[in-house]
Amino acid sequence: MRSDFLAWLEEHQGRQYALHTDHINPVFVKMLRTIDFDRGYVRGQGCYLWDGEGNKYLDLLTGWGVFALGRNHPTIKAVLRQLIDAEFPNLVRMDCSLLSGLVAEALTKHASGGLSRVFFNNSGAESVEAAIKFARCATGRQKIVFCDHAFHGLTTGALALNGADFFRERFGNLLPGTEKIPFNDLGALEKALSDRAAAAFIVEPVQGKTCEVVHDGFLGDAQRLCRKFGTLLAVDEVQSGLGRTGRWFCYQHWPEVEPDIVCVSKALSGGYVPVGATLTRPAIMDAVFNSMERCVVHSNTFGQNDLAMAAALASLYVIEEQRLVENAAAMGAYAMERLKPIAGSSPFVSGVRGKGLMFGLDFARPTSSGKLKLAWDMLHRMNYGLFGQMIIIPLLQKHRILTQVAGYHTEVIKFLPPLIITREDLDWFLNALQEVLADLQRFPGSAWDTVFGLAKRVAKA
Ligand SMILES: Cc1ncc(COP(=O)(O)O)c(C=O)c1O
Repeated sequence: MRSDFLAWLEEHQGRQYALHTDHINPVFVKMLRTIDFDRGYVRGQGCYLWDGEGNKYLDLLTGWGVFALGRNHPTIKAVLRQLIDAEFPNLVRMDCSLLSGLVAEALTKHASGGLSRVFFNNSGAESVEAAIKFARCATGRQKIVFCDHAFHGLTTGALALNGADFFRERFGNLLPGTEKIPFNDLGALEKALSDRAAAAFIVEPVQGKTCEVVHDGFLGDAQRLCRKFGTLLAVDEVQSGLGRTGRWFCYQHWPEVEPDIVCVSKALSGGYVPVGATLTRPAIMDAVFNSMERCVVHSNTFGQNDLAMAAALASLYVIEEQRLVENAAAMGAYAMERLKPIAGSSPFVSGVRGKGLMFGLDFARPTSSGKLKLAWDMLHRMNYGLFGQMIIIPLLQKHRILTQVAGYHTEVIKFLPPLIITREDLDWFLNALQEVLADLQRFPGSAWDTVFGLAKRVAKA
């Protein structure tokens, strides 16, 4: 590699798919090529991506939520540049970093309900792993109760709390002592907690894989049951936190809710550096780190690193300064207001759901008889999971909007716009979606020809 790194990199431009095929994940490359998503983006800024030919795309995937402040945010970039140039000591380990202390102070300021302690980690899954360990250690209990369709990450502990068999199967025995209950089912929760063996009940206030939102009152009632049976309430805000749903944390939509543990990650470092955080009440961490000998009994090598902490401080500052929580609430309300009639005009949409700028469409077999039901059945007989591709492929091909199907073996498409999004860009998306959904009502038609062709190619592969 030469000292002019960017020039050197440019010489390799175009090799990415071959390199990934040879060394990283050939099946992923095959999938991208099959649905024509191998665009080779070369630039990202704010809500947009650009390919090598200069085409501009609206990014509603935001790197699975990490680019909540948009890509390459100038404030965060400026802070990171200053930090690198200043040659900070970083990760001394046998000392306390000012930066991480400041992030902990800033983060806990926004988390209501006595969550004054923070354990820093490097990903969402790691923040969940910490929640599991802390809850078990603080309560002296084993069981962790989780919800159907839940997604808390894919490390083996977090995977044991995954609500979909698809992710778990073929990975062997996972963490013992977990119990799944239906989402939003208080009766089932009471039953699961009543043996007083549960250390924690962990729940996403908006499920990442389904966009299903907890019912009004559910979290408050869940908290009451948790307190009654001595279980900790852990809220996974890895995706829904830091403004995305129109509150700093989604649980704050219901003022009575005061979780014992909150998991955060994704948006916390503006997409620049991996970071995660597990927030708890003091008593929980005091139970874990309860002697000098045990003062690092749970730790990680890269946690609290200066780059992640500086990016986190800058991100929290930007969210506050640019009033992005308020923008997420306003833009989310606008999107929902326009989405409902658009969805209502499509016989394939069975629901619109979400909160703030985390929303999705649920698709189902049309209820009226006729050609469209027949088309749905034919496609599902050929390939169960392909219907969602009929939305995301034309969104990218015709309208240059990047999205993804939310989960495997579900009919949900989720949208995660950046919190900086404007009405104009939401209109770009909503008008495109309206057109794509209208095209689906033409059978036979080009949208169906494309997906049947795709189903055949997938079957052949
Ligand atoms: C709610 C939730 N928890 C945990 C995770 C895992 O995060 P990571 O992929 O950073 O491990 C995710 C990731 O999408 C998530 O949405």
